[in-house]
Amino acid sequence: MSHSSAINTEKVQLRACPTGLDPHRIPNHVAVIMDGNGRWAKAKGLPRVMGHRAGVESLKRTLRLCSDWGIRVLTVYAFSTENWARPGEEVNFLMTLFERALQRELESLQREQVRIRFLGDLNILPNGLQDLIKEATDLTAGNTGIHFNVCTNYGGRRELVLAAQKIAERSVKGELDPAKIDERVFASELFTANEVDPDLLIRTSGEMRVSNFLLWQLAYAEIHVCDVMWPDFDATALREALADYQSRHRRFGGLDPVPSALSEP
Ligand code: IPE
Ligand code: IPE
Ligand code: MG
Repeated sequence: MSHSSAINTEKVQLRACPTGLDPHRIPNHVAVIMDGNGRWAKAKGLPRVMGHRAGVESLKRTLRLCSDWGIRVLTVYAFSTENWARPGEEVNFLMTLFERALQRELESLQREQVRIRFLGDLNILPNGLQDLIKEATDLTAGNTGIHFNVCTNYGGRRELVLAAQKIAERSVKGELDPAKIDERVFASELFTANEVDPDLLIRTSGEMRVSNFLLWQLAYAEIHVCDVMWPDFDATALREALADYQSRHRRFGGLDPVPSALSEP
């Protein structure tokens, strides 16, 4: 990136960032557990699946906001390895919804320079969805905008086990000395290889748990739980999450910087 385009990017970010937020402390990577679709629908007397449909609209809105406000990576939890336990009808509806939404949005993702990837064990997804995932990933691979990761048939434990298998295979083949397996090697075998860890985890609908999401990567993420159901998540809710994030003191196990007057001998 040239010097002048870096400055232009900064200007755009400063303009778009909502008042009250520090544009220099926008998290690089935001992860979201999009929860509460079913309860949103139930409260309106609608079938659960209508909540999922509304959830897609909320996701489109959130992706655009994140991109406009200077967030570089958005990783969302769309379907967990545990969600197969739901009734077949709901699972089928979700798979069809993912396929249709991706088909419909592919052109605008490309136009807006979004780089989309799907994280998870993708081999057991319906074939049509797998084909579309490949098409979307290949088409947008060179895009320069926000990295948009959609966790589909994703489980944090599954991801760790698969990484361990790949590392063991490399060791058995003599390509990797077990003594050289460190955090960097391990992270490079995860679905999120080459991505920075999330700075902020948002969970909607008030549940205080991680539900097998990004178990490795969330090691030092700040956590923001809001009561809003995912289909109602909007600019106000995102601004609140970012303001909460900016109010935190991230210590990473160290100590807060000591005011200079106190640090003098
Ligand atoms: C999140 O909403 C979407 C998925 C898990 C696919 P839910 O479907 O979990 O909604 P609630 O939690 O039942 O309200
Ligand atoms: C987590 O939500 C998974 C997704 C948002 C895709 P769940 O609704 O499945 O989580 P639990 O069952 O409440 O822990
Ligand atoms: Mg839920």
